[in-house]
Amino acid sequence: AVQKVLVARAAFPDIVDRLRAHFEVQDNPDDEVWSPEGLRNALQGKVGLVATGSERIDEALLAANPQLKAVCNMAVGYNNIDVAACTARGIVVTNTPDVLTETTADFGFALMMAAARRIAESEHYLRAGKWTKWRYDMFVGPDVHGATLGILGMGRIGQAIARRGAHGFGMKVIYHNRSRLPETTEARCGARYVDKATLLREADHLVIVVPYSPSSHHAIGAVELAQMKRTATLTNIARGGVVDDAALAQALRDGLIAAAGLDVFEGEPQVHPHLLTVPNVVLTPHIASASVATRRAMANLAVDNLIAALGCGPDAGRPPTPVNPEVLKR
Ligand code: GLV
Ligand code: GLV
Repeated sequence: AVQKVLVARAAFPDIVDRLRAHFEVQDNPDDEVWSPEGLRNALQGKVGLVATGSERIDEALLAANPQLKAVCNMAVGYNNIDVAACTARGIVVTNTPDVLTETTADFGFALMMAAARRIAESEHYLRAGKWTKWRYDMFVGPDVHGATLGILGMGRIGQAIARRGAHGFGMKVIYHNRSRLPETTEARCGARYVDKATLLREADHLVIVVPYSPSSHHAIGAVELAQMKRTATLTNIARGGVVDDAALAQALRDGLIAAAGLDVFEGEPQVHPHLLTVPNVVLTPHIASASVATRRAMANLAVDNLIAALGCGPDAGRPPTPVNPEVLKR
């Protein structure tokens, strides 16, 4: 019998169609957002799932769907998935690294620049009809070029941001990461390893790119914000929960740091109400990878992963970007 798969959320129809050559596909062109029960029911009888960061893939879902063999996330992050539970059940988990690195780094840099140079704040001012005269100190902010760029989390995206800062903007780049990078990689990114306290103390612009996990929960909270320069900016393109949003809103209000740029939030798509009322923060709805080419590449990679993980296509049994490759060896 033909294998059945679920595409959890709306995706490029022509890319979803690639799955139809191999599987019976249930998709979601109306982009209904599933409740846990709804997802559990939709998954009945399906051996494969294309998910986004919005679906929680937990033990309860897996227990109700023991036939499931592959979960293919259309995201580089996979904190929505209980990978250990999947591995224990022999379920392949895949993500979409590499294809989104440069696009996401572009956006992180843009958000950092927007926060520093107060682009959103001044745009709102203009649209509100408040621009009646020019003034020498209108919306002055810190410089980006030549400043110290601090990066927390030096994976592929962190390195791509470092290269932009070091080679494009003449920035001094420092980073902190769980493990230090090889010297050749540091040299390529123009970045120097420092401890977390030094990163917080010296960064003029701090960009957060560390994956979410229990150990990175609230890596930036009230204590860390108090260690930063009062003129510094903070940009989070990693995950909600890495930054304590309530503490950040308070720090912005109190002037502990100058400005922030946030693409990710605790409890998305809800945004902490205090962030919505602080002027010196740029807020975007989790769109750092949203270039046309990259979103298509992510969808194609998720589809390639599912086809291969379910034993079809030219790479049968060898999905290109597994998160738990140990499952494939069994
Ligand atoms: C988006 O946040 C991703 O993880 O790809
Ligand atoms: C994380 O996986 C990254 O690509 O930075």
